[in-house]
Amino acid sequence: MNESRVESGEKSTWTTGSQVERDLILTDADFLRVRELIYQRAGIVLAEHKREMVYSRLARRLRHHGLTRFTDYLTRLERQPDASEWEAFTNSLTTNLTAFFREAHHFPLLAQHLKDRTGPITIWCAAASTGEEPYSIAMTLLEVLGSRVSNAKVIATDIDTDALAKARAGIYPQEQVRKLDEARVKRFFQKGTGNHEGLARVRPEVAALVEFQSLNLLAPSWSVKGPFDAIFCRNIMIYFDKETQSKILSRFAPVMKSDGLLFAGHSENFSYISDAFKLRGQTVYTKAVR
Ligand SMILES: C[S@@+](CC[C@H](N)C(=O)[O-])C[C@H]1O[C@@H](n2cnc3c(N)ncnc32)[C@H](O)[C@@H]1O
Repeated sequence: MNESRVESGEKSTWTTGSQVERDLILTDADFLRVRELIYQRAGIVLAEHKREMVYSRLARRLRHHGLTRFTDYLTRLERQPDASEWEAFTNSLTTNLTAFFREAHHFPLLAQHLKDRTGPITIWCAAASTGEEPYSIAMTLLEVLGSRVSNAKVIATDIDTDALAKARAGIYPQEQVRKLDEARVKRFFQKGTGNHEGLARVRPEVAALVEFQSLNLLAPSWSVKGPFDAIFCRNIMIYFDKETQSKILSRFAPVMKSDGLLFAGHSENFSYISDAFKLRGQTVYTKAVR
């Protein structure tokens, strides 16, 4: 499944057959307001053709409050700057597509990078979504570090608190886990039975390596400090404009060890955005000045 298919998708869609019920009123001005608010809040740039997505993703929030007009929902939202509704609004508009060992070539590169390290190892997974990526990193640490894993951890952050709740639970449909090679499934997952039939849970030794925190990459200061041996920032920059990407990249450099690695998504190119990093190859970057 590609990113755009998921974006049109079903975080909060109410449907009759394949048709989205069009009983809520979303004006051009409302759509523009949503785009401005999510940009200010999370840096996410919603393209003009994402109107249908906005309708379907936020419909549940309107229904929750018994509202039929987006205008009323947005006015209510803006009147309560600290309310939890902002969290729900943001969670509704993020796209969480991810997978275990997604862009698989990165994990042997990470293993190679870490295999001879001594001392503490800390990896930051900066768009952890529902957990598949940080757990894949943790599995790689277990495979490569042996007993030195006791000195390693993964800090996994995301803006979306619903995604993080799923990540912390570490429970996934077995069909999703079956795509991994058999040795990994056996070593790193527990199979659900009874009420948990069809589910798989990451084993405690994998979960123990990962610490989840909510973190907005746009926040003026970050709760994570480093220094990191590697930062995974994959498939998130595509939602940001160049200015936001450049600001975030310039803040990654100081929290990364001098020989640290920055992993980007397959369609993300940081070379033209920041001179803080240079491409090492295969969408992996090193610090330009070490
Ligand atoms: C498509 S997922 C990528 C997941 C994973 N990195 C991967 O490549 O499989 C993008 C994630 O970025 C998160 N996100 C969006 N804006 C964010 C922000 N301003 N700060 C932190 N996370 C954000 C979303 O909540 C979502 O979980």
